[in-house]
Amino acid sequence: MNAGHDTAPLPVRLEDFAGPARRALPPEVWDFIAGGSGEELTLAANRAALDRIRLVPRVLSGSGAPDTTAELPGGRAALPVAVAPMAYQRLLHPEGELATARAAAAAGVPFTLSTLSSVPVEEVTALGGVTWFQLYCQRDPGLTAELVRRAEDAGCAAVMVTVDVPSMGRRLRDLRNGFALPAGVAAAHLDPATTRRAAERRSGTCAVAEHTAESFARTLGWDDLARLREQTELPLIVKGILDPGDAATATAVGADAVVVSNHGGRQLDGAVASADMLPAVREAVPPSCRLLLDSGIRGGTDVLKALALGADGVLLGRPVLWGLASDGAEGVSRVLGLLAAELRSALELSGCAAPADAPWLTTLGAGR
Ligand SMILES: Cc1cc2nc3c(=O)[nH]c(=O)nc-3n(C[C@H](O)[C@H](O)[C@H](O)COP(=O)(O)O)c2cc1C
Repeated sequence: MNAGHDTAPLPVRLEDFAGPARRALPPEVWDFIAGGSGEELTLAANRAALDRIRLVPRVLSGSGAPDTTAELPGGRAALPVAVAPMAYQRLLHPEGELATARAAAAAGVPFTLSTLSSVPVEEVTALGGVTWFQLYCQRDPGLTAELVRRAEDAGCAAVMVTVDVPSMGRRLRDLRNGFALPAGVAAAHLDPATTRRAAERRSGTCAVAEHTAESFARTLGWDDLARLREQTELPLIVKGILDPGDAATATAVGADAVVVSNHGGRQLDGAVASADMLPAVREAVPPSCRLLLDSGIRGGTDVLKALALGADGVLLGRPVLWGLASDGAEGVSRVLGLLAAELRSALELSGCAAPADAPWLTTLGAGR
């Protein structure tokens, strides 16, 4: 049916959703989601690191069709995958985060809602899936505490605090485009006056960077993490760690899980690929600390590589946005369905009956 020249080819890998997404979006919105910081060295390094890793499959394991379920913070998921927190999804589709969350719920994977969501948390949790709330600590600690309480009251299953954004990385595409949120897209959890002021002030700069600079806490320390730990009984996930010592400190302070991440190459350009740090981070934290990896995950074999290197799961980032931009909730469902099929195949072909078997695989090319 799709073999003709005038029909779009059937997507057979996650990257196949990028073209339709790019065609559906204004160029500056495409740049906002696709871009990294600086020369985009870290953005490229994320893929290079995952591509370099090689797996040694096992045979005659007698395992049959694999079970893909995995234990993640807040409960068991259909896949060792959660949707990464990504801001302002109404930029991509009128339904925004509601569409993404609906597709994640249907796929049985947690959806992480950003502090910079364009839809309020209560509307997302009302859909009934598993929602994690991603927290950007605010300058005013009272506002941070309020956000945490709001996420709890709305029924979120975990709090994921992002610690790699003391300020926003220099995203050159956004600076060149003078990127600003269009009318009708706003940060649903922040004071609208902040966003409006930043949009008015913008000149030769990026309005999103300006309003985050105005509202985010810039001088966070480990004490703040300890305070946050005391503020909630929900599982606490710390996102944006690359250094094994930082990961060990985060768990000592009470983090239940750590996301090894360089923010998809959007923060420090020249930062190491997150996959390269995963083995050292795994060694540095106790077995009870769950590890998630993101930055560059583009398919089922990437998920298997992350599991083999000691992760309990991954966060899926930009491919979800490609699905959302190309076809709303249906597009995200197709992305997640394709990833599930790829992971089942990768597990079976490597002789793993389940994600929990992956750490026994030998890997080459991983690490520093
Ligand atoms: C458009 C966009 C918006 C993002 N917004 C947030 C955010 O609000 N909070 C956050 O912690 N991370 C945010 N991230 C980072 C993602 O959570 C994740 O770390 C990153 O996308 C992983 O890289 P990948 O997309 O290349 O796989 C964002 C990423 C993108 C692409």
